[in-house]
Amino acid sequence: MIELKNIHKSYGNKAIIQNLDLIIKDNELTCLLGSSGSGKSTILRIIAGLEAAQGDVTIDNKLMNHNNEILIPPHKRNLGFIFQDLALWPHFTVFDNIAFGLKEQKKISTEQIHDKVMEMLSFFDLQEHSDKYPNQLSGGQQQLVAISRSLVLEPKILLMDEPLANLDVKLKRKILDLIKKLKSEFNLTIVYVTHDHKEAFAIADNIIILNKGNIEAIGNVDEIKNSENEFTKYFLEY
Ligand SMILES: Nc1ncnc2c1ncn2[C@@H]1O[C@H](COP(=O)(O)OP(=O)(O)O)[C@@H](O)[C@H]1O
Ligand SMILES: [Mg+2]
Repeated sequence: MIELKNIHKSYGNKAIIQNLDLIIKDNELTCLLGSSGSGKSTILRIIAGLEAAQGDVTIDNKLMNHNNEILIPPHKRNLGFIFQDLALWPHFTVFDNIAFGLKEQKKISTEQIHDKVMEMLSFFDLQEHSDKYPNQLSGGQQQLVAISRSLVLEPKILLMDEPLANLDVKLKRKILDLIKKLKSEFNLTIVYVTHDHKEAFAIADNIIILNKGNIEAIGNVDEIKNSENEFTKYFLEY
């Protein structure tokens, strides 16, 4: 479980997030849904430990952040982070992009690394592309490689920041289905950021509607669709 308690975040004298309390349950896919500038990425970065904030961040009952101090750094939080611009290494093959983190960890043998990478590739049906370079793949395939690169390290938590924003609708559908499948297969807790309510409705167990760093509504898809919250009703019309 991820818990944010009384979080405040300002840049200069501009308060971005005030008094935010948030609970993200294990093995669920929680969507942070809000328009551009509503603080979605900031919240994700605070959960990841890429950004310090006032207040407490707890993961599995361990305090990660307290009063503007990062107590546990990102790489020790057992989480994967997938950004909108994937930042695959252009000079590495697909295989080497995915294997990179495992090689860095130096915990397992070359054969084991090979098996794990191939297992990821076959989950996404990308085996035949393992020797290609990122620029030889479609946008959707690149995104799946970026997801594989995180997943192969077996994180408990996957943080995804508008990961499909650059893809066409059909491909989006397909990858959303894959993300749902991998959530149950890998027992993941996913925090998924998007400005697109259709994406959220397609995959979320829980949706949190954000407006200027504040929570307007929380609920499952049906509850959000039927929300009486004025902002939420307005937001969903667009
Ligand atoms: N490093 C930064 N310095 C100053 N302002 C920032 C910084 N990062 C984000 N902001 C501001 O914080 C607000 C929320 O940003 P962000 O979390 O990126 O929103 P979202 O991801 O929902 O689009 C925006 O007004 C943005 O301009
Ligand atoms: Mg953002």
